[in-house]
Amino acid sequence: MKYLGVLCVTLLALQAKSAQAACGYESCHETKSNMVNIHLVPHSHDDVGWLKTVDQYFYGHKNNIQHAGVQYIIDTVIAELIKNPDRRFIQVETSFFSKWWSEQSETAKEIVKKLVNEGRLQFTNGAWSMNDEAAVNYQSVIDQFSLGLKFLDDTFGTCGRPTVGWQIDPFGHSREQASLYAQMGYDGEFFSRMDHNDKGRRMADLALEMVWDASESLDIKLFTGLLYTYYWDTPGFCFDVHCSDDPIIDGNSYDNNVKSRVDDFIAYAAQVAEKFRTNHIMIPMGGDFQYEDAEVNFKNMDKLVKYINERQSSGSKYNIIYSTPACYLHSVHQSVQSYPNKTQDFFPYGSDSNSFWTGYFSSRPTQKRFERDGNHILQVAKELSVFADLNSEEQKEKLNYLRQIMGVMQHHDAITGTEKQAVSNDYDRLLSDGMVGGTNIARDALRKVTPLPTGEFESCLNLNISECAFTKDNADNLAVTLYNPLAHTTKQYVRLPVKNENYQVTDDKGRVVASELVPVSQQIIDLEFRETDTQYELVFKATVDKIANYYVKKVESQSAAQPIKAVKSVSGETREDGETVVQTSTIKLTIDNNSGLLKTVEMNGISENIEQSFGVYRTYDSGAYLFRQYNQGDFVIQDGGVEFTVYEGSQVKEIHQVFNEYVSQVIRLYEDRNTVEFDWQVGPIPREEEFGNEVVIVFSSEIESKGVFYTDANGRELLKREKDKREDFNSELDRQPTAGNYYPITSRIALQDSKKRMAILNDRAQGGSSMKDGQIELMLHRRLVRDDGLGVDEVLNEEKYGQPLIARGKVYLVLNSAEESTSAEREWEKEHHLPLWKFFSKNSGSTSSPAKSVPSFDDFPKSVHLLTLEPFNDGEVLLRVENFMDHTEGNVVSFNIRPLFDYLNGEEIRETTLDGNLPLSDMKRFKFHAEGSGVRGSEPEYYTSAHKPLEVTASQDPADFAVTLKPMQIRTFIVKTK
Ligand SMILES: *[C@@H]1O[C@H](CO)[C@@H](O)[C@H](O)[C@H]1NC(C)=O
Ligand SMILES: *[C@@H]1O[C@H](CO)[C@@H](O)[C@H](O)[C@H]1NC(C)=O
Ligand SMILES: *[C@@H]1O[C@H](CO)[C@@H](O)[C@H](O)[C@H]1NC(C)=O
Ligand SMILES: [Zn+2]
Repeated sequence: MKYLGVLCVTLLALQAKSAQAACGYESCHETKSNMVNIHLVPHSHDDVGWLKTVDQYFYGHKNNIQHAGVQYIIDTVIAELIKNPDRRFIQVETSFFSKWWSEQSETAKEIVKKLVNEGRLQFTNGAWSMNDEAAVNYQSVIDQFSLGLKFLDDTFGTCGRPTVGWQIDPFGHSREQASLYAQMGYDGEFFSRMDHNDKGRRMADLALEMVWDASESLDIKLFTGLLYTYYWDTPGFCFDVHCSDDPIIDGNSYDNNVKSRVDDFIAYAAQVAEKFRTNHIMIPMGGDFQYEDAEVNFKNMDKLVKYINERQSSGSKYNIIYSTPACYLHSVHQSVQSYPNKTQDFFPYGSDSNSFWTGYFSSRPTQKRFERDGNHILQVAKELSVFADLNSEEQKEKLNYLRQIMGVMQHHDAITGTEKQAVSNDYDRLLSDGMVGGTNIARDALRKVTPLPTGEFESCLNLNISECAFTKDNADNLAVTLYNPLAHTTKQYVRLPVKNENYQVTDDKGRVVASELVPVSQQIIDLEFRETDTQYELVFKATVDKIANYYVKKVESQSAAQPIKAVKSVSGETREDGETVVQTSTIKLTIDNNSGLLKTVEMNGISENIEQSFGVYRTYDSGAYLFRQYNQGDFVIQDGGVEFTVYEGSQVKEIHQVFNEYVSQVIRLYEDRNTVEFDWQVGPIPREEEFGNEVVIVFSSEIESKGVFYTDANGRELLKREKDKREDFNSELDRQPTAGNYYPITSRIALQDSKKRMAILNDRAQGGSSMKDGQIELMLHRRLVRDDGLGVDEVLNEEKYGQPLIARGKVYLVLNSAEESTSAEREWEKEHHLPLWKFFSKNSGSTSSPAKSVPSFDDFPKSVHLLTLEPFNDGEVLLRVENFMDHTEGNVVSFNIRPLFDYLNGEEIRETTLDGNLPLSDMKRFKFHAEGSGVRGSEPEYYTSAHKPLEVTASQDPADFAVTLKPMQIRTFIVKTK
């Protein structure tokens, strides 16, 4: 009530003023060229879940856990901004802001719009959440920026559009994130966590700000700055209700402290100014969940500004202004300087020589996988919404809800696994809800675009434990609808949990498709929480353009599928020498009879000794964030005694291995699939009183990789890593030689020598490394005994169904000649990220021709990925295409999107920045020069689009719809439909 009163009174005053309103850089306060300009940046860092759930943070619920209430923060900040037009504030997390906005009166909304239009409230970063940069896939980052920026654009127009990235809390920074910012037209980004040695070196070299060369394939540069101290307040100057630093006492009081407070602040500013190249410095004023009573903050900052500037009359060279990261960057840009360049990334993050934040790359493995499932159904639901033209309010809401939850999941305490258990459970709940909506949308659409207008189109989310309610009693008269989210026709094997019965599979045209029954591993059957007793999977190969239906029926005849029998079983005493060969027409594996381990792999004309096993790091004080070894000897790889059983079908061959009570695996080969699948199961991991265990999968080859390996950035480009080395500083790895060599692996890790290359692809984000030449490891699962003291205050010791968590997942091996292109790895990567989604219906026998058709994207060039196809505004569709080969793998490709445009009933098409919200022709972003590049401008320079943005209408020549994509280029279009 109090605030609303203030708001109403002030509205009139605001209206009177708005004549000369200007947002953006025009709204920045003036600076002084002959002084040190201190840009004071009021902000609050509001985690979208961490110690409390998203809603608990918003409402200020459970303040006993952490005192934090975002709704009050925004309420009081708005009230305080109104009081003094000089004040500024940045709003970062759009998920919180949009929730707050939805609860405001029209009057309040008008006031906020004015503040935005005058640049007093500036959206910064603006994505749905402040995403993590290690475990996220680029597709989901793009989605969550699109979502946040669209809300801001719909609500405020261009004045609401952020121009600066603000990733102040994430625990390491990826090059892909910088690339995405540039592609969205951002002018630069700021963050505050960097390896302590890197930061020290940069302090000394005035290199805290740099020009990041954000892509090896694309010419993309982004100004990137590190905050001098973390994002928390200037030491001694936290004026928040949560703090106890001295306020500024300027009255007629014995305690008057203006002089000392101003002295101290200026002394700090002088210290900061020494480390930056221009006469501008940025001092953030805020921290986690600050500004809950913003009057306290602003009242004191007003005084700080007043008294510091007052000193100018007596010769002080310090000028302080309320500012924002955008205004600061604007000043820096105007100052025309050159900066050191940066070409690699900021992983791993070592906050001291014993603390590498590399555990979170793998923490909470099943949540990390679940997030990928969420993205999978989101892409399916988006595409199908477009094809079936779904536009009821309910359908739009469900889709938007799933988009929002996926935005939340990208947050740097969600997908990272660095939240409290109760919060993790809440994320699971939200994502489950969102996914139910997604599958319902898909069902609605499939009823229109398949010949099954009354199909149930159920999804089974636990196929990873061979569980599916729809098939568990009976798979007779079943229709399996397969949806392919990718552009190109795909051939994949489909597995359905079934009983030991005979089935026949037919395709859309009634042709019989070869199928076989494969036994499920004993470790899956033994899972107590599994709600089914099926022990087999029916396997068949499907060929799918966008959608295909396969029909399963029970048959009596012996000619139908028979379960594959074990051909070889080795356990306990029956050890013998020699090897067991398992092969398809393209891949040959040998297993050492004695150890039970994989010994050699032959594929793509290359043969290599590859021993594959599991290892355990026994750790003492690792935590959700940190992977921290206590004693380097505490790492053991299981090198023998593995029981194995071989199953050989005509399409699939499996080697079921048992390593110990809590680690087992199936190595799988499919006919015509040039990759070896490792289907692992880990847990419940045992725990000792003093030691946790962290389980890794290890591939040891004889490839002479000489310490070099390659890891992906967010599922896109690869970065070259060198063991024990860093790009710009000396590594300090004597205390944590392994943890300090760990990198995030979101899709792929590889190594090679002049002859051979081994790549491992995964199905969720994990930490990984190459600690020995020829060897690759990925951390799969962690069970710990201590908290790492970084805030969570809980031990990472997940339990589910009353026992320590069991996790299952897959990694894939590709062995190839080093001379071959790595493009095949790319294709696998796409397929693992977005495989066929399976929908189940009863086959009533009655089919009808679909009400709507689905287009084919098969005429897109092979390297073009349908990155996004989704409903945008009413009567608009967003289309995003990507050339997913990099400069070493592919070429510039051209194709024509007129057929798709016509299918969509297009009227006109316009090209936008990556996020879909800004016409590409309007993009104009800051250009900075790298030191040593030979260029040193004298005027501020800008980038505009490097190519002519596509803008065509239906009446134009089809040739005008040609789209060209350079390697790794993404282009985004909005199609307006008739
Ligand atoms: C199976 O997948 C679901 C969805 O991703 C996940 O929640 C569950 O934990 C997985 N089960 C195992 C054993 O990994
Ligand atoms: C190893 O196992 C395979 C498969 O059973 C068998 O054919 C082979 O003879 C064994 N090797 C030796 C040397 O016994
Ligand atoms: C980046 O800096 C390195 C080292 O100073 C230099 O060799 C390289 O040419 C620079 N690259 C660009 C694009 O300026
Ligand atoms: Zn945070």
